[in-house]
Amino acid sequence: MGMDFSVRPASFRSGTAEVPGDKSISHRALMLGSIATGRTEVTGFLAGEDCLATAAAMRALGVSIEQRSAAELVIDGVGRSGLKAPNGPLDLGNSGTAMRLMAGLLAGQPFDSVLTGAESLSGRPMNRIIKPLAMMGAVIEADCDGTPPLQIRGGLRLRGIHYELPVASAQVKSSVLLAGLYADGKTSVVEPAVTRDHTERMLRAMGVDVKAEVGTISLIGGQELRGSRIEVPGDLSSATFIILGTLLSQDADVIIENVGVNPTRTGVIDILQGMGADISLENSRVFGEEPVADIHVRASRLVGGDIDPSLVSLAIDEFPALFVGAAAAEGETRFSGLEELRVKESDRIAAMADGLRRLGIDIEEAPDGATVRGGTFQGGVVDSYHDHRVAMSLAMAATIAEDNVVIQGVDNVNTSFPGFCECVAGLGANVGIV
Ligand code: S3P
Repeated sequence: MGMDFSVRPASFRSGTAEVPGDKSISHRALMLGSIATGRTEVTGFLAGEDCLATAAAMRALGVSIEQRSAAELVIDGVGRSGLKAPNGPLDLGNSGTAMRLMAGLLAGQPFDSVLTGAESLSGRPMNRIIKPLAMMGAVIEADCDGTPPLQIRGGLRLRGIHYELPVASAQVKSSVLLAGLYADGKTSVVEPAVTRDHTERMLRAMGVDVKAEVGTISLIGGQELRGSRIEVPGDLSSATFIILGTLLSQDADVIIENVGVNPTRTGVIDILQGMGADISLENSRVFGEEPVADIHVRASRLVGGDIDPSLVSLAIDEFPALFVGAAAAEGETRFSGLEELRVKESDRIAAMADGLRRLGIDIEEAPDGATVRGGTFQGGVVDSYHDHRVAMSLAMAATIAEDNVVIQGVDNVNTSFPGFCECVAGLGANVGIV
């Protein structure tokens, strides 16, 4: 523990890159493959710490999961009713996604379970899932402030509900839909804004009838899932750092191969294109139910402006990187509608404001966003607040800083982007671990 990045200024040069598998899809492959009937073969799996914690949890629930190589899994699904009581608490590390989805999956099981996690997870809000799951008949206890650990009572009969999400959240939507598989009747979820739909797509690929009509997603409980082959595309959220490093460079021209470009995730591309970024999608194809492309990006002169808040839910994890883009852009960029960023792995608005200020950027925080004035990055020491996306965003700023930058507390980069330093080194950046 206690790793830092030490970045010497060296901007990207032209080349090709690949990024590890999509984190959201990898979690879902493990959970849905486990409750499917028959075998699920997964390629492109993200062997990052979060997903490995989910794999360990599914094994503790009696599922055989063979890791054939870092990116290849074979899951022998136990069927919808085949999970077994675990021997102890299930530790989900730093993963909010794992905890919220697992709570939905476990709420309708015949046995009790306990979900715990690392320190960063133990402060994250869980009432957002406890409330709808309780409406379905589940009994889940959290700490008095609604944070983990979660004690989930088993042996209860769940009933389908119609639930209007108060906050746009794919994790809450997925949690309710997974509980809905074990509930009587129909479960439907209304989204205030479109969020990533990987759960819906994977359920369909596994033979479940999931309806999606004008913002309402529904399914009927009791349906069985069929094991299938899942090819996980590269994670667009990880590719964002490569896109950013390329845009900030002198004249790099980079292709990032095999990246998931599900339209519920591509807000970052729309926002950057709106700021003048030269990004195009090439070689478009489909992996199962998920659209995939190679992303072609060239160094660009970015220009600030007002970021459309209707794109927030489609780019929810990319704002730390977008703040860096704004800091390197000409003029002022205003972000709003970002209140959810305050309850991610860190308070990402505060963490980025602190990091960018330390690098000499003028940034003004608001409760739901920030105004960033473009400038030049100086060298210095910054804190990642143990947040992988903050760490990698600041590392990209550092590639064009005027002096060396140290980014403290980067251990969690492995949750989403194992091999990050090697990947950016392949494009000429100099990010070392100390
Ligand atoms: C995720 C959904 C998003 C995102 C998270 C992964 C998922 O969270 O921030 O990194 O896999 O469903 P919310 O749905 O809570 O916004």
